[in-house]
Amino acid sequence: MSSLTTYLRTQVRRVVLARVNRGGIDLSKLDRVPATLSWPLQRNGVDPVERLSELREREPIAKLTSFLGINIWMVTGDAEARAVLADTKSYSNDIRPLMGSRGSTTDGDIGGLGFTDPPEHTALRRLLTPEFTMRRLERLRPRIAAIVEGQLDEMESSATDGVVDLLPTFAFPVPFLVICELLGLPDEDRETFRQLGSARFDVTYGGQGTFGAVSGSRRFLMEATRKQRSAPGEGLIGQIIREHGDEITDFDLAGLADGVFTGGLETSASMLALGTAVLLDHPDDYRAVANDAAAVERTVEELLRYLSVVQVSFPRFPKHDVQIADRTVSKGDVVICHLAGANRDPRQGRGMEGFDPGRTPTSHLAFGHGFHRCVGAALARIELGVAYPALARRFPGLELAAGAVNYRPTSIVYGAESLPVRLAPATATAS
Ligand code: HEM
Repeated sequence: MSSLTTYLRTQVRRVVLARVNRGGIDLSKLDRVPATLSWPLQRNGVDPVERLSELREREPIAKLTSFLGINIWMVTGDAEARAVLADTKSYSNDIRPLMGSRGSTTDGDIGGLGFTDPPEHTALRRLLTPEFTMRRLERLRPRIAAIVEGQLDEMESSATDGVVDLLPTFAFPVPFLVICELLGLPDEDRETFRQLGSARFDVTYGGQGTFGAVSGSRRFLMEATRKQRSAPGEGLIGQIIREHGDEITDFDLAGLADGVFTGGLETSASMLALGTAVLLDHPDDYRAVANDAAAVERTVEELLRYLSVVQVSFPRFPKHDVQIADRTVSKGDVVICHLAGANRDPRQGRGMEGFDPGRTPTSHLAFGHGFHRCVGAALARIELGVAYPALARRFPGLELAAGAVNYRPTSIVYGAESLPVRLAPATATAS
């Protein structure tokens, strides 16, 4: 038995080496992400599995597994994760050599900010940053408030016997409509985008599902970008074409739009769904966000930390041997920072496993850290800061319906499949 296992391992290693020599390990050919890699993405309700805190206590940087002959490191300590994420000299984010291609501009390939290194990353991010300044985003605030109110109306009108699923009526459409506005996407494209966005982060189906969806959404955005070349729209894509059209190819612009779309949709949707579930478990905090601006700010930050919906960072690829704490990672290894784990590191303060908006605020890693830190952080804060209070004002008696949260398994962005809520007291008053 063990000799058979050894034989198979050797063969797999040979195949991998052959692929490396030919120009890339084709992760998209894998059927299923193995359990040794996916267990850190599992949770009990909103809490990371206990095994994760045990690992952090023992080894804040640990070799998780060796997969296809590649050492995969998991960083669960706060200080260690910050050290990795801040160190752009020692790590690359460029995943293309692992994707079975080498960064050609064929459609199927992926780029975008998260998988790009300087100087390309610097140039692309510089195009995007002006669209995300507080001044420009503040102009979106009234539009966001109107989108939120529209979805609250929809929750009310879609309820059956006072019960409605918060996911399709509120948590998804709010960030979805905000991003479509931001990008300037036409109405007819919106449903396709919605489906591509949610398939992308589900690793249950292995490389094929995850990376297949990446290719699909990229192709779609290439088309949208091409159309806007001749008739630039009002949103971000049109704005960049107008101001920097000569400096950027359709492929790179579609990659940027893709990063914005997928970066902003699933993440904010999960925050709205899971954040609401947490607040309904803490009715005093739910009531407090209705009208108290200071409570809103504290609660949003604590929810971001506590939920850490982006569970892990993009993979980092060491360019040479790097010492992190007492470990050395080598060129050819893969380093993944577990943001949810780091955000509950007890070395950051007491009671980090629990939800407490009253705690002295600590800086968290929910938006990442350093060079690749979330470009949409300010937009996400505005969305959440508008949506939770509006929900609490419209439905002060909102409660989780029986059966409650249906959590999504093993997703890089943790979330819920459905969240049935009872509007009862609010609708009772209204009718
Ligand atoms: C609560 C909501 C959000 C969370 C928790 C979140 C989280 C993150 C995290 C953790 C990263 C860094 C990953 C890494 O360094 O490996 C990131 C990057 C990014 N996010 Fe967000 N994000 C959110 C909302 C948004 C929104 C609304 C947008 C855009 C509209 C967005 C666009 C991006 C982009 C483009 C990047 C790549 C930045 C780069 O590599 O330079 N995100 N996000």
